[in-house]
Amino acid sequence: MPVVGIDDLAIYIPKLYLDYKDFAEARGIDPQKLEYGIGIKKMAITDTNQDSACMASNACLKLMQRNHLHPQDIGRVYVATESSLDESKAMNSFVVGMLEQIYGEGSFEHAGGIECKFACVSGSYALYDNANWIRAEENNGKAAVVIVSDIAKYDMGSTGEYTQGAGAVALLVKEKPRLMAFDQKVASTTIKNEYDFYRPFGKETPLVNGSYSNLLYLISVRKAFDAYKEKAIKSGLIKLKDGESITDHIDFFAVHLPYRKMGEKALAYLLRHEWRHLPRWKHVIKEIGTTEPQPKDARGTIESILADTQFMKADEQFRRAFMQTSFYDEVYEKKMATSLEASAIIGNLYTASMYMGLRSLLEFEFKKGTELAGKRVGFGSYGSGSSAMVFSGVIESEYKQVVSKMDLDEDVGPRQKLSMEEYERLHRNERAFTDSVVRAHKEFVLVKLGGITADKAGFREYDYVS
Ligand code: HMG
Repeated sequence: MPVVGIDDLAIYIPKLYLDYKDFAEARGIDPQKLEYGIGIKKMAITDTNQDSACMASNACLKLMQRNHLHPQDIGRVYVATESSLDESKAMNSFVVGMLEQIYGEGSFEHAGGIECKFACVSGSYALYDNANWIRAEENNGKAAVVIVSDIAKYDMGSTGEYTQGAGAVALLVKEKPRLMAFDQKVASTTIKNEYDFYRPFGKETPLVNGSYSNLLYLISVRKAFDAYKEKAIKSGLIKLKDGESITDHIDFFAVHLPYRKMGEKALAYLLRHEWRHLPRWKHVIKEIGTTEPQPKDARGTIESILADTQFMKADEQFRRAFMQTSFYDEVYEKKMATSLEASAIIGNLYTASMYMGLRSLLEFEFKKGTELAGKRVGFGSYGSGSSAMVFSGVIESEYKQVVSKMDLDEDVGPRQKLSMEEYERLHRNERAFTDSVVRAHKEFVLVKLGGITADKAGFREYDYVS
């Protein structure tokens, strides 16, 4: 079976941001809560003339130009998003339309692709499906591009508001990738009908059950991880010796990042789950000084666990104490910390969050001087509603060709800080789309929106501003 994976990835982040200190002051929140409790310093905000389709196109164009790719090299263009523009017309059709302004009318006609939706997890399904398209040798030598692009916008004054963000990541999926080869036959998923976070038709912001969504994320990823573990051991990908945990065989973790702190919590939850039956646990408990609390009903539902306030309080305390131990700290610093850097200056990107985390990990580990070839990255992808996907990949020996050129500061570029007044006007959609805050430069932007007449309603036109 061909070795397939990610060859390169390019990012696009809008040029406006909101500073956490301004935000905290305006909402009467302690800025320390945002900086340390959530882990956010800057939230990326879209301009009036930007949407998820033009961010996706901007990321894809960067990917193509950097790799000297021609449309003929690409057989599939997938877009995974939960910021859809149309119930029927897929976002990748808008993207192809924009790219054809550069590469010529009809230059992508030979290709295919769809828009994928399952909250934040759909990009991972899109990657998996496209990897299998190449493994099945249906690709006629061509690569696939999977673009994850989203705008995380929450109600003003809600607790979700400080987890906002926007951006896109375009991933080049091909045979013999330079960056990372996916491990085969281990990808594992869960799915369940849930209402932790959802956005009914016509609503611009989601309905969120915050604490429920946090716990559901942790439980769903853990369940998918259990299935991954079973497959990894059964297939011989990972061989466990006595006293070992599968987490010892994963060199880096990249998980869905609605906010930076959630990554830290997800790692703590996973390590507790994986370690509590191992000999090392008694040393962890000795360092913490108390035993792990148990819920009244260990087999209860998420609701019953959340309602068990005594347990929830004790468990929060235990989790915080666990996160202070040398055991957690060693794994966190070595295997996760670098993946969280980008999240703190961008915010939630929904489908793109985990892949921005991967990008962050690669760049900052390389800058630290870590040798990455042969290292395994374990991914914990989560989408509300809900589904989780756990999979892994190994960094290839040619990774330096790609990673040595990564520069987050340069890629994010100069950004304009918004005042709270400007931000709130944008949030309320009070500015016309033609009245952008910044002048676009070398990027696609929205230039025309369909009116109300039946034949033009829903039309969106974009131009590349050079
Ligand atoms: P909240 O009300 O801010 O939560 O809501 P909190 O009061 O528990 O505070 C958060 C942390 O700040 C706590 O730390 C506090 O102690 C700390 P922790 O207990 O976690 O260690 N804190 C402070 N720290 C320092 N100084 C202080 C201070 N005060 C408090 N002064 C919540 C947080 C995430 C629930 C909210 O922002 C929210 O609803 N966000 C949107 C939903 C969300 O992001 N859910 C995450 C899981 S679901 C998911 O990831 C899927 C999603 O991406 C959508 C999709 O799939 O499409 C959302």
